[in-house]
Amino acid sequence: MESLAVLAYLIAAVCFIMALRGLSHPESAQRGLVYGMSGMALAVATTLMLPVVQAYGWIVAGVTIGGGVGYVIAKKIAMTDLPQLVAAFHSLVGLAAVFVAASAFYAPEAYGIGTAGHIHLNSLIEMSLGVSIGAVTFTGSIIAWGKLQGVITGKPVTFPGQHMLNAALGLGLLALIVMLCMTESVPVFWGIVALSFLLGVLIIIPIGGADMPVIVSMLNSYSGWAAAGIGFTLHNNLLIITGALVGSSGAILSYIMCKGMNRSFISVVLGGFGGETSGGAQDMGDRNAKIGAAEDAAYIMKNAASVVIVPGYGMAVAQAQHAVREMADQMKKEGVNVRYAIHPVAGRMPGHMNVLLAEANVPYDEVLELEDINRDFAQTDVVYVIGANDITNPAAKTDTSSPIYGMPVLDVDKAKTVLFVKRSLGSGYAGIDNPLFYAANTMMLLGDAKKMTEDIVKAME
Ligand code: TAP
Repeated sequence: MESLAVLAYLIAAVCFIMALRGLSHPESAQRGLVYGMSGMALAVATTLMLPVVQAYGWIVAGVTIGGGVGYVIAKKIAMTDLPQLVAAFHSLVGLAAVFVAASAFYAPEAYGIGTAGHIHLNSLIEMSLGVSIGAVTFTGSIIAWGKLQGVITGKPVTFPGQHMLNAALGLGLLALIVMLCMTESVPVFWGIVALSFLLGVLIIIPIGGADMPVIVSMLNSYSGWAAAGIGFTLHNNLLIITGALVGSSGAILSYIMCKGMNRSFISVVLGGFGGETSGGAQDMGDRNAKIGAAEDAAYIMKNAASVVIVPGYGMAVAQAQHAVREMADQMKKEGVNVRYAIHPVAGRMPGHMNVLLAEANVPYDEVLELEDINRDFAQTDVVYVIGANDITNPAAKTDTSSPIYGMPVLDVDKAKTVLFVKRSLGSGYAGIDNPLFYAANTMMLLGDAKKMTEDIVKAME
């Protein structure tokens, strides 16, 4: 039975790797999900058939309640709320790691890691790392969820000596881990848990809302490492492999997001970004923006040879993707060359725009990444920027004092005409003004992204 289980776990691990590979492209994403679900089903079924599992009552109850709650939430959740849902789910992964470590600490015989008072040293080290990472993930994810949900302030919460305090607590945690390995003391175990809970809160509160997706991905990575740590304690190879996959993919995702924003990972983790409302804004003087109507936009776009649509967070909020597709169809009927430009950090999570456009059945070959389309803007007649702001802000290229200076942006300002759909002349996530609103070749279309696009479609018809 044991060698069969090892084989099944290996197949499940391969399924997880295939799932990650599938998820790297919208066309193969669904296949990737099927691989992931099959791998997980195989892993759970194999575990349940192991001789060490003696009673199924609690397991069935847990799966029914947890699965039921998860199903209802997943059905109900709005696409724009996904980042906080992911944060909320990660908190549970962290808590699970704490519970598993605690039960292994209290009943080491059941886990084959020694006897009470004589737990093997390597198991103690794995356990204390798993429990501390899990506890940091738990409270950190709750704070991240609160910030994204607007339950607590999204602004960075900072105070003097914050980094010193965190560093001191980190050292204290390390000291407690050493003590636990030497004494196996119960109060020290719970001291580790308490200190890690506190650290989770303190690490995340100085981080502004704008950086939260990076942090959610980082916490995702932590939860993976916590699971891998617990996998060592439980001698479960599949948990080690899965934890390492989650840990490394979360870390890579954080890195990609930081690169897209031209920020260092350290600067994100140290926090304090996004608190100012107009930091680095250049003086707009009393320049006026040109305001247009849906009919103007319809006329301009129908008579263009090429149009590039640039979606951003506002398109997601307004759920305007279907209207955008309809608008593109209308233009294509008129012989307009229509394409979409995707910035790596458009919206609030990686691939946010790709998912929405795929949902609206936009053909994949019309959707281009920043590096593939940026050179084409100079030869483009019209750019239709819908609910995007920061990702088009030319200040990122010119204003060294801007908080987004250095972030790669879509060069929409180079097009002949730029149409901007948003509700006001207000700022985007980074909280800074966008000089493009006042440029000579820009027309602002003020209103809700979906309503405005639908009005344009009507005007085109
Ligand atoms: P933003 O710069 O946040 O701009 C979105 C704009 O949409 C806002 O200025 C808002 O203007 C408008 N808007 C909101 N609701 C709307 C509605 N119903 N109808 C029409 N417009 C609406 O978004 P972006 O350009 O997509 O840039 C993304 C930002 O998020 C970047 O700063 C990026 O660094 C940050 N970020 C992204 C990620 C990932 S992975 N995507 C991760 C971390 C951080 P009004 O209020 O005037 O309507």
